[in-house]
Amino acid sequence: MYDKCEEILISRESLDGMVKKLGRQISEDYEGKELVVIGVLRGSFIFMADLVREITIPLSLDFIIAKSYAGTETTGEVRILKDADVKVAGKHVLIVEDIIDSGFTLSRLIHYFENRNAASVKICTALNKPSRRVVKDLHVDYVGFEVPDAFVVGYGLDFNDHMRNFPEIRLYRP
Ligand code: IMP
Ligand code: MG
Repeated sequence: MYDKCEEILISRESLDGMVKKLGRQISEDYEGKELVVIGVLRGSFIFMADLVREITIPLSLDFIIAKSYAGTETTGEVRILKDADVKVAGKHVLIVEDIIDSGFTLSRLIHYFENRNAASVKICTALNKPSRRVVKDLHVDYVGFEVPDAFVVGYGLDFNDHMRNFPEIRLYRP
């Protein structure tokens, strides 16, 4: 299984630097605001854990489970399998994702939190694959790295729920 994913695309050191930079930026941008960070499970769990530790302002956090993928293809249909319990009305929501591909998941989640009367809803993603975007008007507020049109695993990202535990981002070649 691991012979298909030996090539490292983004090193652990690069990821560390990226998370520090985003954490600093978010801390500045949300200074004085009531921030709620919502991680999209399961892919965001490692990025989320790293990111919130680099944010220096007060925040609350929760997770939501959304699923759109089977294998290496998006299904287009986004299902919310677990809602966030935290109250978001009047608060500033920052959704944390592992990667944005077609954009279906995030556009669905943005509307979801806007309908719950969040004061603002923004997106922070570790990786972005703009070449694959289907939802063209999706505005991504914070991006760690842009990646090419390839399937990537590690740092929380999976292939059929495996390989999330690689500390770096690797290319997966089926
Ligand atoms: P979207 O709805 O098409 O933007 O897909 C977003 C979700 O698809 C992410 O949260 C990931 O779970 C998954 N995904 C997209 N591209 C990749 C990839 O290259 N590796 C692993 N998961 C991916
Ligand atoms: Mg995901």
